[in-house]
Amino acid sequence: MKCITCGEQYGLDEIIYTCIKCGSTLEIVCRPDVSKDIFNCRKSTMWKYKEFMPVDESKIVSLEEGGTPFCKCQNLGDKLGIELYVKVEGSNPTGSFKDRGMSVGITKAVELGVNTVGCASTGNTSASLAAYAARAGKRCIVLLPSGKVALGKLAQAMFHGAEVLSVNGNFDEALETITALALEGQLYLLNSVNPFRLEGQKSIGFEVVDDLGWKSPDRIILPVGNAGNISAIWKGVKEFHEAGFIEDLPMMTGIQAVGAAPIANAVRNGKNSIEIVTNPETIATAIRIGAPVSAQKALRAIYESNGMAETVTDDEILDAQKLLARTEGIGVEPASAASIAGLIKLVENGEVDKGEQVVCIVTGHLLKDPNTAINACVEPVEIEASVEALSKIINPR
Ligand code: F0G
Repeated sequence: MKCITCGEQYGLDEIIYTCIKCGSTLEIVCRPDVSKDIFNCRKSTMWKYKEFMPVDESKIVSLEEGGTPFCKCQNLGDKLGIELYVKVEGSNPTGSFKDRGMSVGITKAVELGVNTVGCASTGNTSASLAAYAARAGKRCIVLLPSGKVALGKLAQAMFHGAEVLSVNGNFDEALETITALALEGQLYLLNSVNPFRLEGQKSIGFEVVDDLGWKSPDRIILPVGNAGNISAIWKGVKEFHEAGFIEDLPMMTGIQAVGAAPIANAVRNGKNSIEIVTNPETIATAIRIGAPVSAQKALRAIYESNGMAETVTDDEILDAQKLLARTEGIGVEPASAASIAGLIKLVENGEVDKGEQVVCIVTGHLLKDPNTAINACVEPVEIEASVEALSKIINPR
């Protein structure tokens, strides 16, 4: 493990989350010397790329995460004048991309022999951790911001047997609290500040270029909350670039909700650090975050890749969520729709060129947040169970 700021190095078996010397974030250096031909004929899960995962192969805890659909969106792409693909992360075992990071994270927890794992979460991380902890037989503690977690995610965390605690405060405060507990050695922290999480999530980058026949798209667009995923995907595509598997690199483009946009604000002002948003607010509760722990890594990904960041309103998010569902048949939760809303905005203001090849990462399943989905629709019409009544409704004169 290496500090991204001062370069200090640590062993892979040390339980630390930030640099002891300077306090900055850590990342794992991973440079296997392999040919991409070894991936041929392997099962389509993220462990297809196991040589790039820094864990003991004999200890892997997996629910066959990864290998998610890579859907060409002809209808929406034509409308926007671009070549559009959507990577459907809602098809992972617990319905979000977090499963990739948790598979590696829990495998590391098994390797280290820890008994208790924990996280703070806006919902998906807790749902995923609860499932993987159950599979590995670990005690699991999760802290959720009270009243701000979508119902599907809460149900998952509870049902998989996690000890769920509701915190009077937002995600940032919950994360600060559980991090302090982890530093006391009371549990192994599996938020994305743990660099092993990002090692799993970088496989999204691997799969995108593999899906495109070992080519980089022009651009990857994704929602940004705690900022781990954009950092992870950039790490993934860079590793495949360094290994000589692809020639080009994508422009990393992060989308945030207007009310929770510390990264987008920093990029707009050309800054290398963020100003914390103290009261983040958005309907996309998954990305309702004001103090992203991986901000520095995310800014580096955006600047190094010549990418950008944009903000979208809650209305734009809800419109995009409906548009994707009704023109392409892909149901995603609000945070995920931020990537589509951001794309639409960037096409409209000319930042995305006509004909660009764009991949949007849609991060979580529609049913994670059933309330928002139902509230966006009119209630079903009630009818008598008769052909007459039905005909009257579907063919009114
Ligand atoms: N999309 C969804 C559906 C998420 O759940 C999250 C993060 C993100 C995007 C943003 O990813 O944090 O890596 O920038 N959810 C976390 C959680 C914070 O606790 O489930 P990020």
